[in-house]
Amino acid sequence: MSTAGDAEAFLRAYHARDPGATRRAVARGRVVGTDGSSYQLLAALAPPGARVLDLACGDGPVLDALVAAGHDPARLIGVDVSAEELAAAITAAPRLRARADALPLATASIDACVSHLALMLMPDLDPVIAELRRVLRPGGRLAAVIGGGPGLGDAFERFAELAQPLLRTPPLTDRRLRRADGIAAAFAPLGAVTQRDLDVDLAGPIDAVWSTVSAHYGLAGASATDLLLLRTAFATSVADLAVDGVVPCTMHLRLVEVAEVGTGSAAG
Ligand SMILES: C[S@@+](CC[C@H](N)C(=O)[O-])C[C@H]1O[C@@H](n2cnc3c(N)ncnc32)[C@H](O)[C@@H]1O
Repeated sequence: MSTAGDAEAFLRAYHARDPGATRRAVARGRVVGTDGSSYQLLAALAPPGARVLDLACGDGPVLDALVAAGHDPARLIGVDVSAEELAAAITAAPRLRARADALPLATASIDACVSHLALMLMPDLDPVIAELRRVLRPGGRLAAVIGGGPGLGDAFERFAELAQPLLRTPPLTDRRLRRADGIAAAFAPLGAVTQRDLDVDLAGPIDAVWSTVSAHYGLAGASATDLLLLRTAFATSVADLAVDGVVPCTMHLRLVEVAEVGTGSAAG
């Protein structure tokens, strides 16, 4: 099977087992310097009244944030490859089951695409970017949150170190997304790319922090015993960090934007 096929099969199995896992892991977080979640931050970047595509919408937290921000659900569309995630959604916005590289949407039918924690799960990004270039109208926009790595020096980083021997996934990420210049190159067919770092504060009681970090894809195949041992080692490891029962935990993300599709030297 191809790398993209391996990634899709792995992700479909994970999300079939546990729809809504991403929302439960990150929705309680607050983007540092704001009082909102990364879902709300992304929703705020879609222009009012726009026809918005939420690419790889999962169970619809960005769609929910868009509706809460005043968008008409009939102007929104969510797409995801996981039938179970789509079925778990409660949003009034319509959803379609499809792969990101084969969108069942008309050419130039979308004003803005938002995508949260998904484009780094697509090992072959070029056909996805080409599909976005097709469905986004000239002058439309893209705002995508990618990443999901640990912040420095707190519970997430300690989890990553402890869990390392257990983590197993097929290759999920297009290698270009590891560096800023690679991100710019990968998204360049859409237009001029801007990027900035986001830290999400996910501090909380040990149980809440564990439920966030243990949603890691790489633990999907770990045994119950391994998870129990990891949970115990994690609790011991972060005990010195806790202040009044609150364990600091930060997730590092990157916001990638194309403000005007069809601009920039590489855009055709
Ligand atoms: C980490 S979850 C994020 C879900 C949601 N955007 C959120 O942040 O809560 C990644 C989602 O991407 C979807 N996905 C992964 N690869 C995909 C692809 N090639 N096409 C469409 N959806 C895909 C998965 O089914 C899953 O729902």
